[in-house]
Amino acid sequence: MKYEEIKKLLEMDLKNINSIGELNKLKVKYLGKKGVITELSLEIKNIPNEEKREFGQKVNELKTLFNNEYNSKNEIFKLEELNKKLESEKIDVTLPSTKIRRGSIHPLNRTIEEIEDLFVSMGYEVIDGPELETDEFCFERLNLPDGHPARDMQDSFYITDKYLLRTQTSAVQARTMLNYEGKKPIRMICIGKTYRREDDATHSHQFNQVEGLVIDRKENNVSLADLKGTLEVFMKKMLGENTKLRFRPSYFPFTEPSYEVDCSCFKCGGKGCNLCKQTGWIEVLGSGIVHPNVLKMNGYDPDEWGGFAFGTGIDRLAMFKYGIPDMRYLYQNDVRFLEQFDRKDV
Ligand code: DAH
Repeated sequence: MKYEEIKKLLEMDLKNINSIGELNKLKVKYLGKKGVITELSLEIKNIPNEEKREFGQKVNELKTLFNNEYNSKNEIFKLEELNKKLESEKIDVTLPSTKIRRGSIHPLNRTIEEIEDLFVSMGYEVIDGPELETDEFCFERLNLPDGHPARDMQDSFYITDKYLLRTQTSAVQARTMLNYEGKKPIRMICIGKTYRREDDATHSHQFNQVEGLVIDRKENNVSLADLKGTLEVFMKKMLGENTKLRFRPSYFPFTEPSYEVDCSCFKCGGKGCNLCKQTGWIEVLGSGIVHPNVLKMNGYDPDEWGGFAFGTGIDRLAMFKYGIPDMRYLYQNDVRFLEQFDRKDV
């Protein structure tokens, strides 16, 4: 085939190319081993010497023509392909995103953290104790010997004769006093799970208590006034600044004198409503001056040391704080319930 014919054919072929695949087929047709241009270039041996130069130039022109066209078409096809891909994988960044579900702090934990922060800010230590407790620490060392009628109030889960799930965090009072060996002042709270055989709207067989214990040397005069001031700060923080406290004489084996503390009803402000059973008051705490027997039994000399203690259920406080009608909601882990506390008061 002659140079001119090849050129025409090549130009025609190039016009009809629509894809990279076709372009590559064309490369084989013209520049492959048996390609049209390749075969033309082999004819050089049959050309008279004086024409060889011109012939060679023409063949090169054809190659250059092909390569230039090949390269530019290749670029165009690649770009088209990329654009197609971009079009089909297009992301609309203005579309609303899928919602990321965020957890929330459980109302009980929220209450616990708040109590811890408050007491730590007043110089208290936060102390932990075992939930599986011995009869000795849960009762005996708190002035509740075997057969004491007050034990009946705490229907409990015994594991063996000696071990039970603790019914009150008061057990940690005795543990702390023993740890401090009757030598150091104590200012501690203990927060943790407690267990009793109860289960209704306002009681759960598992619940949480906070226990407080302050012991100091007699000359420092830790008195009822300190107890009252402390509980006032505590309850105002939990139930609101307008909360009033009322101390009622009561009985606990580990304190003497003992008091139950009522708070003015945060719902009606003391006027009387269904929550406070029309009394204007809600019972919230047990407290008192640490009984000398308890000091003695746990290594503190009652002639030299004295102080106060208090204890309360955190679940009830959380219920009051967040208006939760049934204690069991706190333990059922129903997401519909828990979601309602998502960043509410953060
Ligand atoms: N442990 C008591 C209870 O579970 C509450 C209590 C009362 C704790 C008086 C105390 C206290 O520390 O002094 O009912």
